[in-house]
Amino acid sequence: MNNHKTYVWSFLGRLSHWLLVISFFACYITSFYEELLTLHVSLGIFVFGMLLKKIVWGIIGPKYAKWSDFNFSLSSLKLYFVKKIEDRYREIEAGHNPASSWFAFLVTWIGIFCCMTGFILYGIQEGNGIFSFLNKNYYTYMYFYEDIHILSVYILICMIVFHVSGVLIEQFYHKTNMVMAMVTGYKKAKGSDIQPRFKMIFWGSFYTLLVFAVFSYAYFIPENIFIKSKFEKIDYKALHKDFQFECSDCHNLIPPHLLPKESWIKLMNEQSDHYDEDLELEKNLSDSITKYLVENSAENSTREASYKISDEIKNSKKFTISDTLYWKDIHKNIPKDIFKSDEVENKSNCVACHKDFEEGILSDSNIIYPPKK
Ligand code: HEC
Ligand code: HEC
Repeated sequence: MNNHKTYVWSFLGRLSHWLLVISFFACYITSFYEELLTLHVSLGIFVFGMLLKKIVWGIIGPKYAKWSDFNFSLSSLKLYFVKKIEDRYREIEAGHNPASSWFAFLVTWIGIFCCMTGFILYGIQEGNGIFSFLNKNYYTYMYFYEDIHILSVYILICMIVFHVSGVLIEQFYHKTNMVMAMVTGYKKAKGSDIQPRFKMIFWGSFYTLLVFAVFSYAYFIPENIFIKSKFEKIDYKALHKDFQFECSDCHNLIPPHLLPKESWIKLMNEQSDHYDEDLELEKNLSDSITKYLVENSAENSTREASYKISDEIKNSKKFTISDTLYWKDIHKNIPKDIFKSDEVENKSNCVACHKDFEEGILSDSNIIYPPKK
């Protein structure tokens, strides 16, 4: 067993490594909560910033972080594994070995791909952020982008499991004390110590602070370019007074873009038996409201909810939104008694949790949960 010690990972390099680990997992966890989408996207920006740093650091950073110091030769990769199996207490390399070179390279680029598909999905599906302009023409691709975004995450997670197993094998089988290398910066290997220069430390620190600043801007500043929605509040009272007046008497106003055309026509045809109520609308009034609902139905909207609800309802002409699988799935984590609580009363009272629901806004950043009176 060798007793050499080499300083291989600079403080900034180690810091970036752990910041990347933390932000990646925080990003993963927040992805399960729709109301945390803004945080999820802001964390995604942080991860993206750290990955970009890795690329630039590989050009301007210290010796062992440089891409030019990586070993991508496939024959060395084979040799690396042969040696690993044959010689338990072999001498290891100070910088990236062929396996970790490939790992770092692939993780960086798949990570960047994952972040990019996330930003595009945020634009296409939610109409939010710098790619919100894509929503208009490409909203029907929302399922596709969601799938590849999720797929790339799970590829990354598999790679991380692989990476951690490799480190643990080094630690406990080869006894190279690999875990501590990313903590102290020292590796039990032969090589020359790195000597980070002032300029490198200055720009590295400046960049890291910049990533924190961009993250804070995205998360804390309302209506910022990374988060801003292309959808604005709709003043239904100004657009169609009768619709607003007649349809918000017993429950909150339901934006026309949440249901497809055929559902609205059916609902209006059955107005004398509307959930055991008779709406008693005169023909003129009813025709005018129907016309307005049809003109602004889900077919004419590029919103996520419009697309997903009408995709499910299709021609079945159903119109109880809270009965759709889409609705049930999104709200499955909400305990039943919350819908019966004084604050909500019943599940059709969307406005109890969706603050600007009656202005047509369903965005995650407008969800108040748990609901307040
Ligand atoms: C008790 C509170 C509550 C009520 C009432 C409620 N919601 Fe929600 N809704 C939520 C929460 C919380 C989420 C985020 C769920 C998650 O964790 O993913 C959500 C998410 C949604 C989403 C997805 C938002 C997005 O950005 O993709 C839609 C669409 C939605 N609700 C529609 C409705 C409609 C329509 C109604 C009324 C029929 C309604 N909700 C009633 C709490 C509520
Ligand atoms: C006389 C009272 C009354 C009026 C007026 C009324 N509704 Fe309703 N509506 C109900 C009831 C009751 C329900 C069942 C859910 C509930 O209890 O809130 C309901 C449910 C709905 C739902 C399904 C909500 C869900 O949970 O997905 C839609 C859509 C709807 N109404 C549309 C309209 C429209 C459009 C108008 C105006 C033309 C209208 N309603 C006027 C009483 C009314």
